[in-house]
Amino acid sequence: MDKFLIKGGNALHGRVAISGAKNSALPCLAATLLSSGTVTLHNVPYVRDLITQRRLLEDLGAQTLTPDVHTHRITASNIENFEAPYELVKTMRASVLALGPLLGRFGKAKVSLPGGCAIGTRPIDLHLRAFEELGAEVSLESGDVVARAPRGRLVGSEMEFEKVTVTGTENVMMAAVLAEGRSVIRNAACEPEIPDLADLLIKMGAKIEGAGTPNITIDGVEELGDAEHWIIADRIETGTFAVAAAITGGELEIANCRPDHIGAVIDKLRDAGVEIEEEDKTTLRVKRSSGGLKASDVTTEPYPEFPTDMQAQYMALMTQAEGTCDITETIFENRFMHASELIRMGASIEIHGNKATVSGAVKLKGAPVLASDLRASASLVLAGLCAGGETMIDRVYHIDRGYETIVRKLGALGANIERIKEQITESSSA
Ligand code: EPZ
Repeated sequence: MDKFLIKGGNALHGRVAISGAKNSALPCLAATLLSSGTVTLHNVPYVRDLITQRRLLEDLGAQTLTPDVHTHRITASNIENFEAPYELVKTMRASVLALGPLLGRFGKAKVSLPGGCAIGTRPIDLHLRAFEELGAEVSLESGDVVARAPRGRLVGSEMEFEKVTVTGTENVMMAAVLAEGRSVIRNAACEPEIPDLADLLIKMGAKIEGAGTPNITIDGVEELGDAEHWIIADRIETGTFAVAAAITGGELEIANCRPDHIGAVIDKLRDAGVEIEEEDKTTLRVKRSSGGLKASDVTTEPYPEFPTDMQAQYMALMTQAEGTCDITETIFENRFMHASELIRMGASIEIHGNKATVSGAVKLKGAPVLASDLRASASLVLAGLCAGGETMIDRVYHIDRGYETIVRKLGALGANIERIKEQITESSSA
């Protein structure tokens, strides 16, 4: 497994361009299964999860063309396979996003039930219950979710999620667009990725209102066709680079981003002593304020509040802030794994249930650390950038899932970071 070797202490300066949002491209790629024509997606991030998602579409029978690494042209006019196998789903939970489109267009789907992951059990019970509200019969058969529309087509209905679920909202929206009649989804997720998916579906011919609000209304249509769509910028990558500027004491121009998608993150970072200027609708200028970083409590909540996907990065920042703060994680049950690795670097963090108490400002020291999940990896990179000495991060395949060419982007800003490729040792005496 590849590693990152970081020699900390360099302040980052310069301009970084944000890539397309992984968590929008994943449902948008799945949505191409709903079209009888061809859908072209632009600004798709060149990250591992999207390569996996494209492979899934090919396994299902779609034709895929990638004129360049950021553009995917998908034709799903002759899907002949309706099953997403365990080998693939176990590598990427977002494969469950194939359920909604397959069920909505073909009336049948079989997708391996995704296991948990490092940050929690991550069930999909709310997805399945929503499909049943649309008239689907859903059963579990030796680890696979088997869903079918008894009359060949789903029937629109009103439903309410008992808790906010991002991919649950996306899955049922994709199932409902070809259902018979009207569907209303209440307590829907409002993350920016939801309206982005709805924009694509509407371009394909779907009738959707209210995406981005807790109440979404969908009127089923007979068929969806061609579309061309540009994926929104990745708000979590944006927040991650904003923390990189602050934690290293540098100054960054963050381009091709959507400041309007990270209002809660911008407000919190400003509270914590980070100067953030919105130069225009797609550019931020970020640096640590002259007064230095200050501890500030945060609680993760569904959008538009502070996102759970920024919690680990924020924790790294708070190790450098004057004072003590509480970081409360309300979305996932086990999303503090980065804390133990930050403690190995000298951070002072105490975990009590879903609350982490961080005491700064501590001079971190480089150390060998282990990445456990995507955002924990980002947190360790940020800590390595400001630590004294060398930090070796193992299992960086986690970060490759969601950050496009992060070594190149950080290196261009002055970071001393290199990827150590896994040595496949082979010897005659083995
Ligand atoms: C999406 O995951 C994101 N992934 C996650 O980003 C993100 O952390 C999460 O939303 C919350 O914002 C993608 O969009 C591909 P949820 P998702 O369903 O949809 C529970 C990253 O780092 N729940 O909103 O799986 C669940 O266990 C990733 O990019 C149920 O109980 O999250 C969690 O506690 C990590 N039953 C809470 O709801 C269900 O059927 C929110 O989960 C579904 C969810």
